Amino acid sequence: MNIIFLGPPGAGKGTQAQRICDELGIPQISTGDILRRAVKDETPVGLKAKEYMEAGKLVPDEILVEIIRDRLAQDDCKTGYILDGFPRTVPQAEALEKIADIDVVVELAVDDEALIRRLSGRRVCLKCGATYHVSTLGDKTTCDKCGETLIQRKDDNADTVKNRLEVYHNQTAPLISFYSGKGLLKSFDGMQDINAVYASIMQVLGNRA
Ligand code: AP5
Ligand code: MG
Ligand code: ZN
Repeated sequence: MNIIFLGPPGAGKGTQAQRICDELGIPQISTGDILRRAVKDETPVGLKAKEYMEAGKLVPDEILVEIIRDRLAQDDCKTGYILDGFPRTVPQAEALEKIADIDVVVELAVDDEALIRRLSGRRVCLKCGATYHVSTLGDKTTCDKCGETLIQRKDDNADTVKNRLEVYHNQTAPLISFYSGKGLLKSFDGMQDINAVYASIMQVLGNRA
């Protein structure tokens, strides 16, 4: 199954995609994770992307389309995948139609106030992509999955979060009607707790498998 996860920053795309990919045995393709790794490794893409990401703006479409084209051509994508954070603009969605057949678009809806709370307390593992929240971490400072030290993302500060939400509402939210018009959209209440969101998504995906 080829799946898109769509939703604002902090909606839980990464949290749910990682768990569901483990369950279904398919890769999680997070463009945010790919770009953060490129920035860390100072690759040509990373050097271009850094400024946009730190300002909470979208990295130009042509860079993202190229990244996705290369990634979807790899062998592990043959049995399906979850796209986490792509597409994020109508031109990206149109480019994707030429290279992939999408089966379902999972939309996670969460209100802005909750998103701000979630992002301000988020801690992440840059090595394996796992995501945590300070409210449940206690005094733990390392990743449960791989032992790496957890960090706070540079774009999780109040000003940048505000920009990211604006960018989502202006540039990414139009994809909701784009995919609903194609009959691919399944919307979920992302305000429920993590296990409840997981269960409702799996129920829908299970019925299609
Ligand atoms: P990206 O990394 O994709 O960031 P994002 O879309 O802003 O989404 P987040 O990763 O912030 O949120 P999430 O939905 O994954 O939430 P999470 O599960 O972590 O992109 C970063 C940047 O890269 C962009 O700003 C842009 O510059 C660039 N970029 C990436 N893709 C691009 C593209 N296609 N085009 C152009 N530029 C691109 O959860 C958040 C927190 O909430 C965690 O602490 C988690 O524990 C907690 N949480 C999760 N679910 C729940 C729940 N149900 N209840 C309570 N807490 C919860
Ligand atoms: Mg994410
Ligand atoms: Zn880790």
